[in-house]
Formats: sequence, C-alpha cells, structure tokens
Amino acid sequence: MTYTHHNNELTMADIGTTVKLKGFVSKKRDLGNLVFIDLRDQEGITQLAFDADNPLKATAEAIKNEFVLSVQGTVRERSSKNPNLRTGDIEIDVATIEVLSTAKQPPMIIADETDALEDTRLKYRYLDLRRPRMHKILKTRHHITRVVREFLNGEGFYDLETPMLTKSTPEGARDYIVPSRNHKGSFYALPQSPQLFKQLFMISGFEKYYQIARCFRDEDLRADRQPEFTQIDVEMSFIDQEAVLAMSERMMQRLLKEIRGIDIKTPFPRLTYKEALERFGTDKPDTRFGMEHITLNAIFKATAFKVFKAVSDTGGLIKAINVKNGEKAYSRKKIDGLTKAIAKYGAKGLAFFKYDGSFSGPAVKFLSDTELENLKTKTGMEQGDLLLVVADKPSVVNAALNYLRNTIAKEMELYDEDTFDFTWVVDWPMFEYNEEDRRYYALHHPFTRIHDSDKTKIETAPDQVLAYGYDLVVQGQELGGGSLRIHDQDMQKAIFNVLGMDEAAQNAQFGFFLEALQYGTPPHGGIAFGLDRIVMLLAKTSNMRDVIAFPKTASAHCLLTDAPSHVSNAQLSELGLQKKSRDE
Ligand code: AMO
Ligand code: AMP
Repeated sequence: MTYTHHNNELTMADIGTTVKLKGFVSKKRDLGNLVFIDLRDQEGITQLAFDADNPLKATAEAIKNEFVLSVQGTVRERSSKNPNLRTGDIEIDVATIEVLSTAKQPPMIIADETDALEDTRLKYRYLDLRRPRMHKILKTRHHITRVVREFLNGEGFYDLETPMLTKSTPEGARDYIVPSRNHKGSFYALPQSPQLFKQLFMISGFEKYYQIARCFRDEDLRADRQPEFTQIDVEMSFIDQEAVLAMSERMMQRLLKEIRGIDIKTPFPRLTYKEALERFGTDKPDTRFGMEHITLNAIFKATAFKVFKAVSDTGGLIKAINVKNGEKAYSRKKIDGLTKAIAKYGAKGLAFFKYDGSFSGPAVKFLSDTELENLKTKTGMEQGDLLLVVADKPSVVNAALNYLRNTIAKEMELYDEDTFDFTWVVDWPMFEYNEEDRRYYALHHPFTRIHDSDKTKIETAPDQVLAYGYDLVVQGQELGGGSLRIHDQDMQKAIFNVLGMDEAAQNAQFGFFLEALQYGTPPHGGIAFGLDRIVMLLAKTSNMRDVIAFPKTASAHCLLTDAPSHVSNAQLSELGLQKKSRDE
C-alpha cells in the first residue's frame, strides 16, 4: 500500500477508512495506559493513538522525537478534539508501524515556539527548517516565484540565463572573486547583478528578458542584506519609463492578490528624488504615516541662537518633525535617549520644543517671540505637540530626522504592518559628488540614461543632470530599482568622463560593452526587484535570514557548512596562489 494521505488531510468524513501515513515524530505523550504521537510531514500533523490493548503500544513507548515512521491504521473520532489543528477531530488507531529512521536528541525544540538561539538554528538549519513556520515561509517564497514566472511568461518575457563566472559589473559593492586555474593570476568575479548581460540580450534582439537571478555582493551586511541574494531581473527594449513602471505595478498587484488576497490600487504614487529627500530625508520613505520633515531655514536666517545661526550661515539645513501629541509621550529622559541615538548619524544635538499654549524647552530662551510665532505657524504646532529640530549639514540632518521619524512612528504605533504604501521614487540625479574622494559617482549605475533636456549640463553642471532612474519603495524599504539605459556609445563615454574614467580605464573595464553599443542598440531599460525582500514583506518577517533556506550570518559566515574555510596549499598552488600567512 502506498501512502494514502498527507498529515493535514483527514477529517470526520474519513472515519472508518484504512490509511497509510508517514512523517517525523513531532511530539509523544505517554499517558501510561495510552500513547499519543503527533506525526508531522510536509503538509501538517496527524495524531496517532496507541490504546492500552494495542500490541504496538510498547513499540510506541520506545519511539522518540524526530524518528521517521511509516504507519497504517484506521481513522477514528477523537474523544477530545483540537480545534487548532486541521485534523483535530480525528486520530489514527495504529495497526502497523515501521521505524524508517531513528533520531538523536535534537539540539533545539522543533516547533514554532523554539527556545533556540539563531546561531543554533543556523548550525542545524535542516532541523530549524522542519519547523512549520519555516516551511510556511519557504512555501510562500515558492508561490511568489511561481506567480512572478506566470505573470512574466504571460506578458511575453523570455527567461534567459547569464553567467555566474564573469567579469565584474559595477553595482557599487565589492566583488567576490574566483581565481582561474587556466589563467593563473587572473580572476572571474561573481555577478553583483546580470546588468550588462541583460543589456547585451537587448542588443542581441531579445525584447523582453527576465531571470530569477542570484547576485553576489561583498558588502557590510544588515538585517535586509545578504551577500548572496536573489533578484527578479527584468529588461525590455523599445519601451519608455512608463512601460517599465506599469509592468512592475501589474506584477506587484498580481503578487499581493495571489499571495495575500489584497487588492492594491495602481498607478502607484510618485515622488521625485528631490521631494523624497525634502519631505522624508531619505530616498526610501515610509509613507504610511505623516510627520514629514519641515525645513525651517527661512525662519532662522537672522537668529540670535548661535547653533541655528552657524548652520544657516554655512549652507546647512535646519529641519524639524512635529510629533503630534508627543509632549506627554516623550519625557526629557526619552528625548535624551533619542539625542544619543542620533549621534551615530553625526548629529551634535537635538533641540526640542513642547507646546501647551506656549512653548517650552531648553532652546526657547534663545529665540525671539517672532521666531516662535513663525515656528508655530510653519510647523502647525497645536496643544500637546512636540517639535524635534536638528541643524547640521544636509546629510546629517536628513539621516537623523529619518531615524527619529521612523523610530517615533513605531513607538507611537502610527502605522499598520499590512498597509502597502508602494511609491516610486523617480528622477534621480545622475551623479553624486563624494567630498572625500573628490569625484563624482553614479547614483544608480553608469549605464543610466539621462533626461534629454539635461544633455548640455553633463560637463558644465553634472550635479543638475537628472536620470531616468526609478526605485520602488514600500514600508520604508527599497524593493526594486532600475532605469532606462544609455543606448548610444558617445553618451556612454561622456558619462564615464564625468566619473573620471579615461579611455584606457573605460576599455579595460567595459571595452566589450562599449563595442557592443556600436553595432545597433535599441532603446531599452529595466528593473530588478529584491526577491528576498518581497518574501519578507509578504511573509511578514523583518529578518532576511528567515526567507533564505541556507543564509549567511552578519559576518557572511555559513554556520552549517563552516564556509568560508581554508583550502589546501596544493589547491592554491594549482591556482597559482600562495597564502601570505594562515590568518590573512
Ligand atoms: P540594485 O542594486 O538596486 O539594482 O538592486 C536591485 C534590488 O535588489 C535588492 N538588493 C538586495 N537584496 C538583498 N541583499 C542585498 N545585498 C541586496 N542588494 C540589493 C534590493 C534592490 O532594490 N542591476 C540593477 C537593476 C537595474 O538597473 O535593472 C541592480 O542591481 O531590493
Ligand atoms: P548648546 O548651546 O550646545 O547648549 O545647545 C542648546 C540647545 O540646542 C540644546 O537643546 C541642544 O540639544 C540643541 N542643539 C545643539 N546642537 C544642535 C544641532 N546641531 N541641531 C539641533 N539642536 C542642537
């Protein structure tokens, strides 16, 4: 007899039938005259019962957690039902049992409520993944890729692969490099994204490409970053920006509907990069709540308050957020805590003003009545509000206030986890000047097309050049990003020039690509979505490691396999490499 059911299937309708089930022992309860075993498989749990007169009762008593069993028996009604379990009305009166595999005592509790530390969970990942919660997340991940493939296939995209051993493409992070045995002293790079290859597909005459592509970036890791992650990578030719955004919106709409049963409206609202920075201090604003940034420079141009005056005189920013009803919620002690927290963004202080008909706070005495009146009007302060002000150079003010806005909104519960505030951030500047390196960098990547009307500014005013770049943002997270691309070689060279790359450097790094551009290149553009982030969003977890079957730790270590690990000197010499010392 083959297995008849999964462990989530049997109900009152099956009473009296003979079934064959298999699975892991999730729990055993030995009540003396009666033994119960919860049998867990991929789909769920079914209770096995061994009565006092069952000849298998002694066998059942010897069974331990995580043994793998095959059982045959009859479905019967339970005497005490479990409404929390799909099969909670029935149990199996077991007639035959086969132990397919025994199990050691596991180092962690294998249940949704586990006491295991994350390090233990990662070391014994295969046990951690047995937990129903992890099964559920990985199944959601599967459903998401299934829906994405169905959607893109339906829209006429071709799923095409690109190499893993390749030349480095610049996405701003460090490369993982792979030594070559055939070409000693030379290295492949693992792709940070399929960027140049997907553009080459457009040059090859494919008009719609996608790939669920693995990307590798050696960068500092955070909760929403892994060194190895997955993109839903898309490229299209003979299109404009509207076509890419509309396609992305249809895909998100379909995902939300099929995975969560939620209807979302399109088109998504758009913010320009400039607006996003002004109103939220970040290019990935959480728009589920207000508390937007308010620029106060105009009020304090001629102030006697030396902190604001100094910043105003040196071209800095003075910005505030109005925490509605924050006066009581935020004690002096709590505000001191916030002040300490924003020091990590470089903020040297936090001025606060409470309003209960009149202003109070340590900085009030430095301000004139007119300034206070203007402050009230400009920020819309009402009875019970708290105003937080940071003055510094723009990057510091924006980062500090963005942190305060997000932190306070979380503490005051100003938003709901299930609000999907999809927003496009568009019109990115092409270049960003780096004071330290004294050079321009591409804000997206160097293959991004610029607005036609800004062509004349490339050399004269690179800061003002806007690009057809777009990011999809939701709940304060960047879910995806892309751009229209340059399809003419001269323009591509002009961009490289601003980036300080001379002809030799351009050719060494991108010669193959610059050459390809010369043989007829259709206008094209695309986008890539972080699949792991989409799964986090739809599976409601804030830890990226939860949505990747075999993830790395924050220090890029695989605790399960202990990678990265040392290799033998023989292996190294085959590659033409030599260790300087064991620890380097
Ligand atoms: P970008 O670098 O913005 O664009 O990456 C696209 C999306 O990938 C996700 N992502 C990550 N997810 C997990 N861990 C990481 N370390 C990580 N880095 C990025 C984010 C991000 O929005 N080639 C371009 C796309 C294009 O222009 O078409 C690119 O890679 O969700
Ligand atoms: P001080 O003159 O340094 O004692 O600061 C007076 C008030 O201004 C205090 O409440 C400080 O927290 C605040 N303050 C100091 N520096 C800044 C700054 N860069 N931005 C906003 N407030 C500040």
